[in-house]
Amino acid sequence: MSKPEVNHQKNKTNQKSKFEIQPAKHIERLVPYKTSEAFRTMLRQEVFRYVNHKYVAKLDYNESVYPPSPKVIKSVKKALKSYPLNWYPDPDYLELKNEIEKVHEGKVGFENILITNGSCEALAVIAKTYCNHDQEVLLISPTYDYLRYSAEAEGIKVKNFFLDKQFRFNFDDFKKSVNKKTKVVYLVNPNNPTGTTYSVKQLKEIAAYLESKKVILIVDEAYLEYTNLPSAINLMKGFSNIVVTRTFSKAYGLANFRVGYLISNEKNIKWMDKLIPDFPITTISEDAAIAALKDQKYLLKNVAKINQDRELLVNGLKNKGYTVFNTPASYILVQVEDVEKVNNLLSKNNIVVRPKKHIYPLDNFIRITIGTRSDCKKVLSLL
Ligand SMILES: Cc1ncc(COP(=O)(O)O)c(C=O)c1O
Repeated sequence: MSKPEVNHQKNKTNQKSKFEIQPAKHIERLVPYKTSEAFRTMLRQEVFRYVNHKYVAKLDYNESVYPPSPKVIKSVKKALKSYPLNWYPDPDYLELKNEIEKVHEGKVGFENILITNGSCEALAVIAKTYCNHDQEVLLISPTYDYLRYSAEAEGIKVKNFFLDKQFRFNFDDFKKSVNKKTKVVYLVNPNNPTGTTYSVKQLKEIAAYLESKKVILIVDEAYLEYTNLPSAINLMKGFSNIVVTRTFSKAYGLANFRVGYLISNEKNIKWMDKLIPDFPITTISEDAAIAALKDQKYLLKNVAKINQDRELLVNGLKNKGYTVFNTPASYILVQVEDVEKVNNLLSKNNIVVRPKKHIYPLDNFIRITIGTRSDCKKVLSLL
């Protein structure tokens, strides 16, 4: 495999320009959502990207540590050979929607589903669809940062409602933070990175309150497959304001294929569909997602391994005196005295984790994606 060309002469086109054309004010202020430089550097190394014989425990982005189902690989190979790749994909993604319908056991129909380029795109589209520029997005924080970024990129103001010190949710306090400008609320169940979970009763309470204020409730279920938590999809019939987002990037192990979807009532779907470009994913990705959905046995096997190894890691760290916020998903949040020191120690040993210092109030926390059994043991032996 040949090495990708890297252009070392940066900013070539800007060398002689006299003026800098300023971007819009909100773009100038925007804090981007980017992967770390460490991650980019790692992927640039040919040995890692193409041959993959240098083992790195990649425990920083909550991807699955297990490869996709062998049935996915088979299906992708078939699609590569037989689909006319010079054609655009089916813009309606009917086959994938059909499988999604089946997996949700008839609770949703085609008219309730939009396929998106990862669930990131779904989050961005929801904010863009519903917020005028004088309206606000409210995040239940600390949480996954992408909606903050994509809303601000549109010039939409973002506010936070903070969980308590133990990362628990308090409904009465939450109600006080919803104001006349609030148009979209973002709730992640289970929350990344704190592991906060919401019961059906809580979800109903929140949805009903927000519906009375004509506010959209996003329930991001990126990690729901790892848990026994009930999906907010079950509540959709009773509430007009719920939008659920799902992804194939986590438990299904398809992060590279960039497939997500959102589920809501038909009216909401029609509004949001206006903002989805015609071909958000390739046919190869569609076929990968279909094959992954069809292999629920493989999914459950990996979920069981992650759940076991998470408990091993959590118990081990607690025994060593660490404060650990456990989750029912594929990551844990660990409080450490010196984030830099822990991060350096692990990365020197080819273990990449995620310091959370960019997210208030998590300066002293690292998030660790649950790796294989041997990754977990290695982390424990080092900390
Ligand atoms: C809570 C949550 N939602 C959404 C995503 C985005 O996933 P993707 O765009 O790969 O579907 C992530 C990724 O880490 C996440 O943690």
